[in-house]
Amino acid sequence: MAIAQVVLFALISLVVMEKNLVLATFDTDMACVWGKDNCQINGDSLALTLNEWSGASVKGTKEFLFGYVQMRIKLVPDDSAAVVTTYYISSPWESKENDWHDEIDFEFLGNVTGEPYTIHTNIFVNGVGNKEEQFRPWFNPTSDYHNYTIFWSPYMVMWSIDGVVFRVFKNNEDQGVPFPKTRAMTVYSSIWNADDWACQGGQVKTNWTHQPFIANYLNYEDSVCPWTGTNSIQDCSAETPENWYTASQLRQVTQSQIESINEKRSNYMIYNYCTDTKRFNGALPTECYLPPY
Ligand SMILES: *[C@@H]1O[C@H](CO)[C@@H](O)[C@H](O)[C@H]1NC(C)=O
Ligand SMILES: *[C@@H]1O[C@H](CO)[C@@H](O)[C@H](O)[C@H]1NC(C)=O
Ligand SMILES: *[C@@H]1O[C@H](CO)[C@@H](O)[C@H](O)[C@H]1NC(C)=O
Repeated sequence: MAIAQVVLFALISLVVMEKNLVLATFDTDMACVWGKDNCQINGDSLALTLNEWSGASVKGTKEFLFGYVQMRIKLVPDDSAAVVTTYYISSPWESKENDWHDEIDFEFLGNVTGEPYTIHTNIFVNGVGNKEEQFRPWFNPTSDYHNYTIFWSPYMVMWSIDGVVFRVFKNNEDQGVPFPKTRAMTVYSSIWNADDWACQGGQVKTNWTHQPFIANYLNYEDSVCPWTGTNSIQDCSAETPENWYTASQLRQVTQSQIESINEKRSNYMIYNYCTDTKRFNGALPTECYLPPY
């Protein structure tokens, strides 16, 4: 393991451990919200199944602003074409017409046997997403469990896997870029059939002779600022020792994190919205013109 990633997570863990690390479990902190027969929650472990009758989804029981969520996931092995596994935090959706929700995503797009998964990331603020970055996994995501972590603070959002940061979205509010800071989020995970678009643009359909498609999870943990009402907007942003994610050493992206992000971007990135000039008619979103770190 590169020194960079070890240093990063040592830093976060140290700060977290000094504060109130809340160890969560699927049992107490998640509930099945779709496909009851296809969610198996058992203490520290969870299995979500997709078959031709249903997918499945779980939702966290806590609402929070800032902190981190982490879980270990072993994705559907072999043929997983058009099967999408998601893991994200989101505020409630109001409605399609009046959508102001915030969301920070991991999505895993399956593939036919022998072809690689796509790790899809995105962030929505005030109902607007369009900030996709996609990567090829640099490890086998189906042979073993890997830790997927979302770190969210008033200063940045960071995505990492096994302690390796590969994406950061900085708070550039002072440059007019919206940042999620006012809506409580909840953790979600799901598995579903997306054969209208997910695999090779919808050309490869789900092969139901290979069902059930099962994603396995272990060790959900979080250390978050619980939402207790609109007062939390101030309380959770305050630079206090209780708000461990505001510690001065966590306010900027460190040199070792920059190196780790640059390495993953140059070797594994397959899509970057900030280079998709065609899609945005030449006018890329503001943050694409700003320094990323
Ligand atoms: C994932 O996290 C768990 C618990 O935090 C830790 O025990 C394990 O070593 C980590 N695994 C990897 C692959 O980083
Ligand atoms: C599946 O594999 C093909 C061929 O390697 C690749 O082009 C594609 O991006 C992969 N992922 C998806 C989701 O189609
Ligand atoms: C689905 O899987 C079966 C069994 O592996 C295979 O025989 C069949 O060709 C597959 N169907 C498609 C459309 O790929």
